[in-house]
Amino acid sequence: MNREQVLEVQGSFKSCSSAEEILKKITATLDPESIGLASSFSIEDQVITDMIVKVCPEIQIFTLDTGRLFQETYNVMEQTLLKYKKKIEALFPDREGVEKMVREYGPNLFYYSIDNRKLCCRIRKVNLLKGKLATLDAWISGLRSEQSVTRSNIDKIEWDESNGLVKLNPLADWSEGDVWQYIKENNVPYNELHDRGFPSIGCAPCTRAVKEGEDLRAGRWWWEHPEHKECGLHVKTAEQ
Ligand code: ADX
Ligand code: SF4
Repeated sequence: MNREQVLEVQGSFKSCSSAEEILKKITATLDPESIGLASSFSIEDQVITDMIVKVCPEIQIFTLDTGRLFQETYNVMEQTLLKYKKKIEALFPDREGVEKMVREYGPNLFYYSIDNRKLCCRIRKVNLLKGKLATLDAWISGLRSEQSVTRSNIDKIEWDESNGLVKLNPLADWSEGDVWQYIKENNVPYNELHDRGFPSIGCAPCTRAVKEGEDLRAGRWWWEHPEHKECGLHVKTAEQ
């Protein structure tokens, strides 16, 4: 599929009532083995994982293991592997790149400037994602439009210009309540940090719990302004 073909089908994907329908629709068009879910084991990614196993198990699942994740994230990864018996590919950052960055800027560089923070995200996550996406025809993410100002205009199917492939956001119009309802009804494993005040979870040094009434992503890179809070994985949506 190319950019024009994606634009043509955008309307029909928008009117898809369920996320399962979106997965079925895309696997009828593209080879399911050339489609991959990028999972951070967020509640959204866990919902999509459950659907993939039930609806189209040939779709790949991969995760970007930055080396700075919470132990609780590895716990939910393990529970997911045990429950679904589905392979999840863990990708690791380039060793030399990480060594050079830490040698030059120290292990906690992200707290000193946005540039440093973006460098760390690029080396530990974005480059990894780019490498993986080069092998796929489409990728799936758990983005929802109500998550942040930078995500309000996402579509269920998009053309990812910077990586040159199809991008699917099957939960684009789901509320947080919809996600939790699916998790509970289907007994989907989730990160125990959610029960301790962490609505959105990334790397350990860059994520903290939020207070009552605070924004969903207030605990992510909490020292930065909301409009900077994208790590570069979702460039097109951040720039539109
Ligand atoms: S982030 O850009 O701020 O880190 P967020 O945590 O909200 O993203 O997750 C949004 C989506 O990005 C997830 O649903 C998932 O598809 C993808 N994603 C984020 N972090 C990772 C990761 N470490 N590995 C794989 N996919 C990820
Ligand atoms: Fe580095 Fe923090 Fe980005 Fe993780 S979220 S890659 S630790 S800057």
